[in-house]
Amino acid sequence: MSPTRLRSILQRTVGQGYFPHQLAFLIDNPIRRLLITPETLADRLPLTPSSRVLEVGPGSGYFSVEIARRVPDGHLELFDLQPEMLEKARQKIEAAGFRNVGYTEGDAGELPFGETEFDVAFLVAVLGEVPDKLGCLRSLYRVLRPAGTLAFHEHHPDPDFSPLQRLRTLVEGERFAFLQSWGWFWNYTATFRKSSPPDP
Ligand SMILES: C[S@@+](CC[C@H](N)C(=O)[O-])C[C@H]1O[C@@H](n2cnc3c(N)ncnc32)[C@H](O)[C@@H]1O
Repeated sequence: MSPTRLRSILQRTVGQGYFPHQLAFLIDNPIRRLLITPETLADRLPLTPSSRVLEVGPGSGYFSVEIARRVPDGHLELFDLQPEMLEKARQKIEAAGFRNVGYTEGDAGELPFGETEFDVAFLVAVLGEVPDKLGCLRSLYRVLRPAGTLAFHEHHPDPDFSPLQRLRTLVEGERFAFLQSWGWFWNYTATFRKSSPPDP
């Protein structure tokens, strides 16, 4: 491993940069089910069999297989900065037999998808890692259909953890209306609805 890569991995322990794919075993740890299971998160999203769903920062796909299972006639798009993470997620999803999933690499500060393409978008332990958070939220607003749902799950231990009130201030400032939250201050899911643009 190069010294630069090693430095970037070590920086993560103090909350700088993005979560490196070399540590994916930590987010795949079965003990994580005590905090949040993929089934619980999926139950909190307004999914129908034909939903079009965007998962930003899926990492190695801890949640993705269950979401793909819930949208058999729809589509799940995985979008991550690290191709290695997308590859790990792809292996899990293909092993489970799902073909309704797309894989796109890039920076969430500017999502490369069409307007109103998705019904639901969600991020788990990701927003804190994205340098351009406002760009990310504005992109999410653009790619969600009118009244589409945007969901976040945040939990500790995560050096980039965002408390619910701080998240709400940020997200509501970008024309999303708060819908509901579940869990506790250190382990919560929050959902928002895309509001209509103001009248000209
Ligand atoms: C802590 S991991 C969480 C992975 C997954 N959501 C989970 O909870 O198991 C954060 C993920 O977000 C991705 N990520 C971080 N910054 C990003 C950015 N600017 N654009 C796209 N993905 C990003 C990382 O590559 C990593 O896969």
